[in-house]
Amino acid sequence: MSKDVIIACDFKSKDEVFNFLDLFTEEKPFIKIGMELYYSEGPDIVREIKKRGHKIFLDLKLNDIPNTVEKSMSVLANLDVDICNLHASGGIKMMEAAIHGLTREDGSRPMLIAVTQLTSISEEVMQNELLINKPLDQVVMKYAENAKIAGLDGVVCSPLEARKVKDVCGENFITVTPGVRFSDGDAGDQARVTTPAQAKEIGSDYIVLGRPITQAENPVEAYKRCVREFLGE
Ligand code: C5P
Repeated sequence: MSKDVIIACDFKSKDEVFNFLDLFTEEKPFIKIGMELYYSEGPDIVREIKKRGHKIFLDLKLNDIPNTVEKSMSVLANLDVDICNLHASGGIKMMEAAIHGLTREDGSRPMLIAVTQLTSISEEVMQNELLINKPLDQVVMKYAENAKIAGLDGVVCSPLEARKVKDVCGENFITVTPGVRFSDGDAGDQARVTTPAQAKEIGSDYIVLGRPITQAENPVEAYKRCVREFLGE
């Protein structure tokens, strides 16, 4: 299974993202495009970054009725992204429909991963606002299992949950983990963080870092350091 470092390109415009990508003259990092950039620039931003030779994780977190998700996923498959995602809270039928929509005529498809519970949702909010009266970690594992049953490739989770997800869903079930910081870096608004080396130890397949790379004095050096620590290269 391939492992990689994904840079969250949380920029608001095409100019900003291209100024950033222009810094990388040798490497072609795996890039995450989120809602802000996608909604401001549209699908062309995906095509243009792809044309530059980057792999793309399109982080749009779909959640709707199965028919709508299926049709939307077929549009994303035509955009030739490498990873896309949805909310597992949409249910198994919705996730199965998503896989169906993503699968191209030749049988190939981008990887599809699920968001279980957002890390911004606390157990208290989940129980008192969403009326889900179970422990948060049990809900996360149940949603991961549902994703596996529906045929998805993995989940987005904290590196601290990655081991348990693999114990429950199997070693080949992919974990994509944000919340990664350098040992000497600032955690910012991420509450539970691990270093790239710890994420490697725990068994994350892909780590996602934004600000520790995009806001670094030397983003290329920060990226290379991350690759060294995570992949041991
Ligand atoms: O800048 P930072 O490294 O915190 O960026 C992490 C990226 O991962 C952001 O794009 C953020 O939206 C995303 N993310 C996250 N936690 C989740 C899901 C996604 O930080 N649970």
